[in-house]
Amino acid sequence: MEIRVGVIGGTGVYDPKILEDLREIDVDTPYGKALIYQGSFQGKEVCFLPRHGMTHGVPPHKINYRANIWALKKVGVNRIISTAAVGSLNEEMPPGSAVLIDQFIDFTKQRALTFFEDGQEGVVHTDFTEPYCPEVRKHLLENSAPSGLKVLDYGTYVCTEGPRFETPAEIKMFRSWGGDVVGMTNVPEVVLAREVGLCYATVTLVTNYAAGISKSILTHEEVLQMMAENIDKVKQLIMGTIAKMPKEVQCNCEKTPGKMVV
Ligand code: HPA
Repeated sequence: MEIRVGVIGGTGVYDPKILEDLREIDVDTPYGKALIYQGSFQGKEVCFLPRHGMTHGVPPHKINYRANIWALKKVGVNRIISTAAVGSLNEEMPPGSAVLIDQFIDFTKQRALTFFEDGQEGVVHTDFTEPYCPEVRKHLLENSAPSGLKVLDYGTYVCTEGPRFETPAEIKMFRSWGGDVVGMTNVPEVVLAREVGLCYATVTLVTNYAAGISKSILTHEEVLQMMAENIDKVKQLIMGTIAKMPKEVQCNCEKTPGKMVV
């Protein structure tokens, strides 16, 4: 069986046991090792990678994004579906809803953000007109009904450096600049995926209204609790989509000009 789909589990999504014949594989990459759980789901090989580690020990700014994406590509994944908890800036996206983000704004500050670090492969400027794979997003949307989630098919994700939450002034600015949801991990993950020609889409789960919109202060516990309440629906959305997703790929993600060869 060929591996095709990789799932990157964000906050609250750590458990690979939904997969059968589960194996742990330690993958060597130029950026260090990455631990991947590999198993099968309804006849399809799936790789699972918990972004923050199994016990949520790795904060957003310390995640080895390059090792994770390189490792998934190396083991043969060609499509990634990731999850991410987010705060909402948009009343049309209340807590409990799922947003299939289609754009991002990058406010990270000090992360390794590219595979094209030192120009050895030439100077590469990758196109990000359509940052998320339109085909995987379409499959997620088409298979969303059984999950029972309210799924929105658009949304601009603002990525902050973290690990602190935002100030109300920052949120006010992000909102006036077109942001819909805010989180700390989607960049550079989405960027690196495209740089190696991987299809990548994210299911964000709104866990709270962002700072200053929320009537109370924000806590990580609140985020975890909201994720826990919705985890079965998120799993249904992702695994239901994987089960139905055809093997053929028609989008252009793999044909990224100048892509890095793993
Ligand atoms: N801000 C940043 N990251 C988050 C939030 C938030 O409000 N909620 C969940 N992840």
